[in-house]
Amino acid sequence: MTKVRFVSADGRRVVEAEGAGGTRLLELAQAHDQPLEGACEGAMACSTCHVVVAPQDFAKLPPASEEEEDMLDFAYGVSRTSRLACQIWLDDAIDSLEVRMPGGSTNMQGR
Ligand code: FES
Repeated sequence: MTKVRFVSADGRRVVEAEGAGGTRLLELAQAHDQPLEGACEGAMACSTCHVVVAPQDFAKLPPASEEEEDMLDFAYGVSRTSRLACQIWLDDAIDSLEVRMPGGSTNMQGR
């Protein structure tokens, strides 16, 4: 199991969750009502699953593919540790991850 801390864009709300190996980060986020739309459900045709990985955790993940890098060009609030949550598979070897959702994808309820 991987422990994941989902941090809101303003840093004021934190949700902690645990996901089994093989689970996509996007699926875990959605299962815990986090504001990641994931409109294309992992088909790499949107960028609404954009997250900013905490710098201390970024090296735990395998590198992004070229296709993922290209999709990140369309994301809101990109930083040096940005990734697409649909392209991150949790791995039991990863003890923990912290990701911030940079906003721009909140729903009408502000989540
Ligand atoms: S869900 Fe569309 S690129 Fe991740």
